[in-house]
Amino acid sequence: MPTFTLSVNGRSHQVDAAADTPLLWVLREHLDLVGTKYGCGIAQCGACTIHLDGVAVRSCTLPVSKVGDRAVTTIEGLSEEGDHPVQQAWLEHDVPQCGYCQAGQIMSAASLLAANPNPSDDEIEQAMDGNICRCGTYVRIRKAIKTAAERS
Ligand code: FES
Ligand code: FES
Repeated sequence: MPTFTLSVNGRSHQVDAAADTPLLWVLREHLDLVGTKYGCGIAQCGACTIHLDGVAVRSCTLPVSKVGDRAVTTIEGLSEEGDHPVQQAWLEHDVPQCGYCQAGQIMSAASLLAANPNPSDDEIEQAMDGNICRCGTYVRIRKAIKTAAERS
């Protein structure tokens, strides 16, 4: 089995895994970073969203062999104290319900605001379109993104 060297949340890790193992499973099973969730496994729900060099990607369909030397950031590494502006806004608006989708929602929102600190409503819709919430927290998510944008 090949060994891959991954940069995850600022630390280097070596993992032995089949080349086609989705990054999601490497994060959860090998590195015990279980904040990133499995929803659909086919890049349709957004629960598994992480950052690759700051860009939101679905880790369920990304083979570990394709990560290379790009920096992986998971919800655990978004901020040291859980105080990223998006996380603070999430708390303020009491966004989560069951919570299952929320790591992916936050990672998508953080990536959006890093690239576009003052997004329009349409830009928010577009960026968050692929993140499904079965609990229907969409209104609070949109409000929290606006709040985070005002502060960034
Ligand atoms: S689990 Fe990856 S998009 Fe649904
Ligand atoms: S908070 Fe339950 S699925 Fe989104």
